[in-house]
Amino acid sequence: MIDMVSIIEKKKTGHALSEEEIRGFVKGVTDGSIPDYQTSALLMAICFQGMTRQETFTLTDAMLHSGQTMDLSEIKGIKVDKHSTGGVGDKTTLIVAPIAAACGVPIAKMSGRGLGFTGGTIDKLESIPGFRVQLSPEEFLNTVETAGMSVVGQTQDVAPADKKLYALRDVTATVNNISLISSSIMSKKLASGSDAIVLDVKCGQGSFNKTQKAAEDLGRLMVDIGTDAGKKVVAVITDMDQPLGNAVGNSLEVMEAIDTLKGKGPADMTELALTLSGYMIYCGQKADSPEEGRRKAEEALGSGRALDVFRKFVTMQGGDASCADDFGIFKQPLHKAELKAAESGYIAGIQADSIGLASQHLGAGRRTKEDSIDLSAGILLKKKVGDPIESGETLAILYSDSEEKLANGLKEAGSAYTYAAEAPKRPVLIKEIIE
Ligand code: URA
Repeated sequence: MIDMVSIIEKKKTGHALSEEEIRGFVKGVTDGSIPDYQTSALLMAICFQGMTRQETFTLTDAMLHSGQTMDLSEIKGIKVDKHSTGGVGDKTTLIVAPIAAACGVPIAKMSGRGLGFTGGTIDKLESIPGFRVQLSPEEFLNTVETAGMSVVGQTQDVAPADKKLYALRDVTATVNNISLISSSIMSKKLASGSDAIVLDVKCGQGSFNKTQKAAEDLGRLMVDIGTDAGKKVVAVITDMDQPLGNAVGNSLEVMEAIDTLKGKGPADMTELALTLSGYMIYCGQKADSPEEGRRKAEEALGSGRALDVFRKFVTMQGGDASCADDFGIFKQPLHKAELKAAESGYIAGIQADSIGLASQHLGAGRRTKEDSIDLSAGILLKKKVGDPIESGETLAILYSDSEEKLANGLKEAGSAYTYAAEAPKRPVLIKEIIE
């Protein structure tokens, strides 16, 4: 049994913890033998004093081995995973997975539910009538082999130490530390069994990385952790100052993903999807360079092959694939309202976190794990940063099942917009790529 008081003292006074201490800590967190107050104290000391690279690698490895690790060796080929650090309107997995799979890269993905602004990928997929996110291991492998991809809910057994630590970090203001974030993300990704990982590291006002530098530091550290574990990892640093695409909300985002797979998606969503899937195809060794990967991604999109993969994967997971042709099969919201522009000129900014909060007010996101979500609630943006606007013109349409929630959502969404008399620069979407 490790001596937690001396470990906390050691970190508090700025010393590096030994491998034995870190592994003992993670073991004690996992088996419940360390009380939450001591774990919280150590997390806070880590936030103040930081961790060395070696400590961070050890923490990641200990968390990754705190539970089950997935064995995907039965699936032929180089399996590639993708992860986003999270943003508003981020439906990218639903687009890049079918594109990469259509180019021969097997995608065997575990995803989470969301806490926060909208649901996670799993919630979004559940807006498709009949879609099942829990598959037996045989069904999961068979779906990847037959459709080229599968997305299922994360099991309780993957990195259980992270589950406990993340829940405590959430309520002790200790989320935002680079070593804790990178070990949390990478332990789950490495336990999920893929051979390569493409990371979409968001930066800007709607991300926990407020600056590009913070996102780059996190991306670099995660690439190093993955490389150390023998995986090919690429981090793409992307903008999250304004929401991604136009749709924010669960079924709304699935519909936008389908539109993007048909080549009719918003420009920023399409650009991000092609960049990320290009890297996934390259990391999966189905292209000799990221540029060739992107060309293949464009072909998979333009030819409809990626949409075919989407239909097949949805069908194999019990979902109604006619959603790709008829958006009427999604649950329809009871109420909608238009948000109107307060000024004329140009849209200078759309605060991603205010739009995210507004969508949560509408019912699209959870405040606590126990909350249920309204899969049809959300926001459809009609204008993006840099667009010209007339006072009274529609900025966005909001959807909800409750008129009270709609009123709260409208108030919050209205506060997201800033205006300018001159045309502002359009934001740069892809900021940096770290290999
Ligand atoms: N996402 C995670 O999974 N962990 C973190 O610490 C932050 C974001």
